[in-house]
Amino acid sequence: MMTHRIVAALFLIALSSGPAIAAQTNHWARPFVASGGKLSPSPDACKTCHSDRHRDWVGSLHAGSFSPGFAVQLDPAKDPGFAESCYFCHAPAVEQREFLATSRGYAKNKGFDKAFQRSGVSCAACHLRAGTAKGPKSPALKPGDGGHPSAKDEIFKKSEFCAACHQADNGVALKGRALINTYREWKSSDYARKNVTCQSCHMPGGRHLFRGIHDAETARRAVEISTQNLSGRSGVKTILKMTNVGAGHYFPTYVTPVVVINAFLTDAGNRVMEHSVKKKAIGRYVSDDLKTEKFDTRIAPGESFEFFYGEGDAKGARNMVFEVTVYPDEFYARAFKAALKKNPESALLKEAARRATESKYLLYREVIKLEGQGY
Ligand code: HEC
Ligand code: HEC
Ligand code: HEC
Ligand code: HEC
Ligand code: HEC
Repeated sequence: MMTHRIVAALFLIALSSGPAIAAQTNHWARPFVASGGKLSPSPDACKTCHSDRHRDWVGSLHAGSFSPGFAVQLDPAKDPGFAESCYFCHAPAVEQREFLATSRGYAKNKGFDKAFQRSGVSCAACHLRAGTAKGPKSPALKPGDGGHPSAKDEIFKKSEFCAACHQADNGVALKGRALINTYREWKSSDYARKNVTCQSCHMPGGRHLFRGIHDAETARRAVEISTQNLSGRSGVKTILKMTNVGAGHYFPTYVTPVVVINAFLTDAGNRVMEHSVKKKAIGRYVSDDLKTEKFDTRIAPGESFEFFYGEGDAKGARNMVFEVTVYPDEFYARAFKAALKKNPESALLKEAARRATESKYLLYREVIKLEGQGY
């Protein structure tokens, strides 16, 4: 099989989070064995008794982490070490690996469970250790109550639990900051000081939806947007102000999304006046080869981004429009399309490119009327 290493460099040497985080938990020491005893690690097994959690999780990106865009980059039989470096976050249990490292190189893993592998960051990956379900509470069951062995681990209530995969101190860094830096962004914000954890926002009420920038409603909660019209005789002048009021890290946190503000005038026929189009991008934009950071305009918690729009040539203009569009997978869309040019037949790449392109959505649109300005 042809593999296509695209985001490889982004994560390749990400194999442990920083010592400060690691000290808080051994829950995420990898590799770990999830299963043991009678409890199957399959999410379908958990579903029989925890159908509510399952219903939430199954629609989340955690459930989809063994995606076409992920799988296409791996060839475990040829390079098991590389695959392992990716499984570290996308399919972290030992039973999710085809091969295991031994003193004499990689050997076939007898405990490999393909269906479990494909379930990605599943219930068992987060909860199950050697057959015991770890969780935030003391076990409510007495022997003979049914259910399964369980044990309390404080880490479930802490952001350090999520940092195991959402912080990569040993991976690629540009301008002195890791490309996956979410935990540290949170740690230096007021949210950390007030103990508003990742779970508080991403798992409200214990829900397992894990919604983020791919969900329009969640992204709308992250920012407050307002506009101002200062237009006059000398032309159109407007301001859009966007404040990060709801994300506990930069908006957005990763290098992969881009948020584009499109500003333009429309005429009496509601047509876009081409000369007036201006754009600004919010994101941490890196080159395809991950060697350079082109710009970083992301919005830190509590801070604002302002777009001053000015157009002196407003003759015939009736409205001024601001449109904010989110491209959650901009980096991947670019990378997958480039890879497709070289391998146009790959079905996995086609699917990956389709998904990365189709995830975009309109976050906000505001029409400012220019009537009475005499343009
Ligand atoms: C036969 C039914 C059954 C199955 C199957 C099952 N559970 Fe449970 N589970 C229970 C019951 C009952 C409890 C105790 C209820 C409670 O504590 O609220 C429980 C409690 C838990 C807890 C809370 C532990 C704590 O200390 O906070 C976790 C986490 C958990 N289960 C995870 C899982 C996972 C993961 C799977 C699949 C690998 C699974 N369960 C499969 C019945 C089941
Ligand atoms: C990305 C990691 C992750 C995944 C995947 C995950 N959970 Fe959880 N789960 C957690 C965390 C963290 C908590 C604690 C949330 C809190 O209390 O704020 C939790 C809480 C729970 C609890 C509640 C325990 C209690 O005492 O209230 C149960 C039961 C549970 N999970 C079952 C499941 C099942 C079943 C699945 C799969 C369908 C699953 N989880 C998938 C991280 C995960
Ligand atoms: C430190 C944890 C970590 C490691 C290691 C890691 N990833 Fe990811 N990966 C993530 C997170 C978190 C996201 C979601 C954020 C985003 O979209 O950028 C993600 C997203 C992706 C996506 C886009 C979403 C999708 O599923 O299509 C691809 C593709 C991907 N990773 C491939 C890889 C490959 C290949 C490797 C190994 C070279 C790898 N990842 C290693 C954490 C990791
Ligand atoms: C075992 C590794 C792992 C752990 C632990 C983990 N995640 Fe993730 N998370 C991932 C990966 C991998 C993805 C991307 C999946 C994909 O798209 O391929 C992801 C995606 C997400 C997304 C979706 C982002 C988007 O682009 O919309 C959110 C939100 C998220 N994680 C929050 C959390 C929170 C909160 C915790 C802690 C309770 C947590 N994660 C723990 C690996 C992990
Ligand atoms: C105050 C609430 C809040 C806290 C705390 C918070 N988040 Fe978020 N998070 C959001 C909102 C809202 C979004 C959607 C907007 C965005 O992408 O910034 C989001 C987006 C994300 C995404 C999507 C990817 C991206 O590029 O933005 C991931 C992954 C994520 N959060 C993980 C985490 C992790 C891990 C923590 C803890 C270290 C955390 N979040 C803490 C509210 C929060």
